[in-house]
Amino acid sequence: MYRARTPEPQSIATARAGSNIAFIKYWGVADPRINLPLNNSISMTLADLHTTTTVEWDTAGRLSSDQITIDGETATGKKAERVTEHLNLIRHLAGDRRYRARVVSRNNFPMASGIASSASAFAALTVAACAALELPFDRTRMSGIARRGSGSASRSLFGGYVEWEQGRDDATSVARQIYPAEYWTLRDIVAVVSTAEKPVSSQNGHSMAITSPFNSARVDSLYGMLQDVRNAITMRDLPRLGPVLEQDALAMHGVMMTSRPSLLYWQPGTLEVIHAVRRWREEDGLQVYFTIDAGPNVHLICEPTFEVEILKRLQKLGSVRSVITSGPGDGPQLLDKHLV
Ligand code: DP6
Repeated sequence: MYRARTPEPQSIATARAGSNIAFIKYWGVADPRINLPLNNSISMTLADLHTTTTVEWDTAGRLSSDQITIDGETATGKKAERVTEHLNLIRHLAGDRRYRARVVSRNNFPMASGIASSASAFAALTVAACAALELPFDRTRMSGIARRGSGSASRSLFGGYVEWEQGRDDATSVARQIYPAEYWTLRDIVAVVSTAEKPVSSQNGHSMAITSPFNSARVDSLYGMLQDVRNAITMRDLPRLGPVLEQDALAMHGVMMTSRPSLLYWQPGTLEVIHAVRRWREEDGLQVYFTIDAGPNVHLICEPTFEVEILKRLQKLGSVRSVITSGPGDGPQLLDKHLV
């Protein structure tokens, strides 16, 4: 007898998503269970620092657990658990599917070095996993899903200049695009002073933010700073944007350094680059500003006209091991070529 069967989803998909650099940072969680942040944040999605991820759902039931490969190595322990947990959320949203998955992921930049690999990683994982199950979710919905894996990933669901609204719950804590990438072709020049894995993941750091006496002062000051950043982007005004992004990077690191236990991501090279940026600006009028994520590397934000000069100058700093550059990029794309 013929019985209609629910069609199987296409089961495999590959997505590429860009990392992002925050001008106003996400630091601190209001609700760690769903990664609800203490504040709105604003970032630029990066074109040239990205993660490509293939998710193949095992609809035939051959796998007994998820199989995860990151940059050519089988993921185990915490790293693998974090991916499996995210897949569990997507399995749940897909109507409690039981399929295991094969996940193969590749970054084109060093992981865990203060370049937010988790942002591009969880954005690409979300888009690939949802597409492979043919889930009819739009980008806003996927931004909220990616947020659960990594807060900053919510912003990588959109291209260009992006704001992640703090929100009140799972459905409202999502990102939206402020302007597309082509609106303002800023450059992010990452001065890499160390590629060592960070000693404390940002995930643990977020829950420590409230132990710093400076945390509430930072959060209180952000309302005006967010408006300054939105306005500066609207006017494409770097001398207006730069001081605000530097101030928030320093405020966030102030919170990190004064939380209990104290988090100190900076290395001597971090300070060498900060001082150089200030000198170049004050003495030579070079319009360049710095920001730093949860790591020792320094992101230099400038207009394209200054890039060559800045690269030349960075080469002369003893602690700069390498430099990675990127402009603003588009949101995640699905690719036809799979990694498996
Ligand atoms: C310092 O959401 O990326 O980069 O997923 O644990 O890495 P993990 O946390 P994540 O927080 C990083 C925050 C930050 C600032 C920012 O990007 O807003």
